[in-house]
Amino acid sequence: MTYETILTETRGKVGLVTLNRPQALNALNSTLVAELNEALDGYERDPGIGCVVITGSEKAFAAGADIKEMSGLSYPQTYLDDFITAWDKVAARRKPIVAAVSGFALGGGCELAMMCDFILASDTAKFGQPEIKLGVMPGAGGTQRLTRIVGKAKAMEMCLTGRMMDAAEAERSGLVSRIVPADQLVDEALKVAATIADMSLPIALMTKESVNRAYETTLAEGIRFERRVFHAMFATADQKEGMQAFVEKRPAKFANE
Ligand code: CAA
Repeated sequence: MTYETILTETRGKVGLVTLNRPQALNALNSTLVAELNEALDGYERDPGIGCVVITGSEKAFAAGADIKEMSGLSYPQTYLDDFITAWDKVAARRKPIVAAVSGFALGGGCELAMMCDFILASDTAKFGQPEIKLGVMPGAGGTQRLTRIVGKAKAMEMCLTGRMMDAAEAERSGLVSRIVPADQLVDEALKVAATIADMSLPIALMTKESVNRAYETTLAEGIRFERRVFHAMFATADQKEGMQAFVEKRPAKFANE
């Protein structure tokens, strides 16, 4: 499939999406968001794919929503078109998605990275929500997801001043899982994604769903949900295979059943 604003490829059981609008630092225009969703739809449907990586260029993961496309919109247009809501589909995917971030992840770029399941950052990564400098605020989940991830003090400072966080601060704050050298970022992300894709797909999906529950419910409800899903895992052939393989001291071969 050929797209205008992204590149896609399949590496074994991993789908790789590279945002590709270098002339605009991968600013997220409506074409890019539609193409990204189409590519992710394809990976969701493909039973051979177990994990997806979204990355950008070395200079920019994405510098935010496309300001040139957005600047002339009126309130009724944003309201009637439900502007930005299509982006949320990224967060609603069932298969795990890893964001591999190098360079700028600003505004909608930071928000897109946070919609993924975790972020691997290169040592050049810079995260920020600079929308306030444009006379708006984050509109793709930034005021909510950033606050839950890094806490009120840092989120409030970043959203109110537009200050960027470098990779080291992002790692200290829990925004990224790990930092790797820029020239190894995509390879490392593909390696992590391949590890995930080698697990049982239904178990990985249930695990993702359970971790995400922690953001949406009370501790007691979340633990009840976890317990129900954990018990249900004993109805899968992959649980039998995983535990049998351990006992027999051999690698497990999951059948996604
Ligand atoms: N939208 C559209 N075009 C953008 C863009 C964006 N978000 N970010 C960068 N570009 C374009 C620039 O206009 C420039 O294009 P031209 O060469 O045609 O002028 C090109 O990308 C290169 O950018 P710069 O020359 O500015 O590069 P730089 O290295 O000097 O600066 C930067 C890099 C600090 C990231 C700077 O480009 C910048 O501040 N960009 C805007 C970041 C921003 O405000 N993002 C938030 C957008 S609003 C949003 O995302 C809303 C939401 O929550 C959904």
